[in-house]
Amino acid sequence: MELLGKRIVLGVTGGIAAYKAAELVRLLARQGAEVQVAMTEGATHFVTATTFQALSGKPVYLDQWDARMPNAMAHIDLSRQADLILIAPASADFLARIAHGLADDLLATMVLARDCPLLAAPAMNRQMWENPATWRNILQLQADGVHILGPASGEQACGEIGAGRMLEPEEIVEEVIAFFMPNVLAGRKVLVTAGPTFEAIDPVRGITNLSSGRMGYAVARAARQAGAEVVLVSGPVGLPAPQGVRRIDVRSALDMHVEVMARAAAADIFVAVAAVADYRVANAAEHKLKKDKGGIPPIELVENPDILAEVAAMAGGPFCVGFAAESRNLEEYAQSKRRKKKIPLIAGNLIQDGFGGDDNRLVLFDDRGAHPLTPAPKSVLARQLIEHIATLTG
Ligand code: C5P
Repeated sequence: MELLGKRIVLGVTGGIAAYKAAELVRLLARQGAEVQVAMTEGATHFVTATTFQALSGKPVYLDQWDARMPNAMAHIDLSRQADLILIAPASADFLARIAHGLADDLLATMVLARDCPLLAAPAMNRQMWENPATWRNILQLQADGVHILGPASGEQACGEIGAGRMLEPEEIVEEVIAFFMPNVLAGRKVLVTAGPTFEAIDPVRGITNLSSGRMGYAVARAARQAGAEVVLVSGPVGLPAPQGVRRIDVRSALDMHVEVMARAAAADIFVAVAAVADYRVANAAEHKLKKDKGGIPPIELVENPDILAEVAAMAGGPFCVGFAAESRNLEEYAQSKRRKKKIPLIAGNLIQDGFGGDDNRLVLFDDRGAHPLTPAPKSVLARQLIEHIATLTG
């Protein structure tokens, strides 16, 4: 419920991507937003108002002369009640109209009369997107403070391939959530590790740690939503990269070590959430080990580098945050890890509280002692951790 109580006017304009706006209404409502849909005449050729009415639970507004507004001022009333106007899809024509301040239909009039922020997710054919006229309009809108979301590149409804696809509804929702978040890490560079590492024994077998990657991905997402530029170095997990986060996939602890060390000096903040294997196999076999070769194969282990401790030891390195997953004595073990690795902050959790699931129970340990957080979904805890980091780093 990350948009609870937010009033959003969703403006739907004419384009094939209008059908995706139906899913967008559902996803916004699921996050707790109150959605009021307004459509241009063009949009009604792609999706009916009834669809949006059913999904939003509110009548849809289509024209300026709508008799439902007692004072005949739908454009003023609807935009005054909103925390945000979101145009998705935003057609080339609609963007051109609002770039010029036209007020020739209800939606354009609402945009002109608004006193709230405006987000627009363009959707059009790639040639239309690349046209200098569209670019003039986009630059003008950005200069006027409009937030342009996307567009993405890929296959288009017309069969061509290029830029101009509307962002997916899930991605737009992420952008809307981020928009409402306080930008406590604006302009900072954050490096995050997540997931397990996999240490090969032979080409098909290996040693790994149990880790879903969810906590690390939630931290990367929260940092991004707080305005940071985020790189996520991820072990093998089955999760999609959070919107706007650059993900680098790795497999072993040594791979993770290389990717982190290459980026640590440029980072302001390093959050090590990954469950890195403590050991790797020194004598990993090039070919699959065979049972019929006789005897149990000897597996020789060597210690992996402690990535977090190494980054923490860098002169002028980033502010370092660790994670400690323990099965008992949380405070004692977490605080001793924090001191041993010489890091200012560590987030501890009991394995039985958070493994694999969506929820977790975290305690933050820093120089001032223990700060227990209320048990909550990992997304919420990640945001609280980011706020704590922002406070400690000024
Ligand atoms: O494994 P351990 O309990 O020491 O992990 C504590 C913290 O150190 C975690 O933040 C983990 O990501 C990090 N770590 C690391 N490299 C290792 C082992 C742990 O960065 N080789």
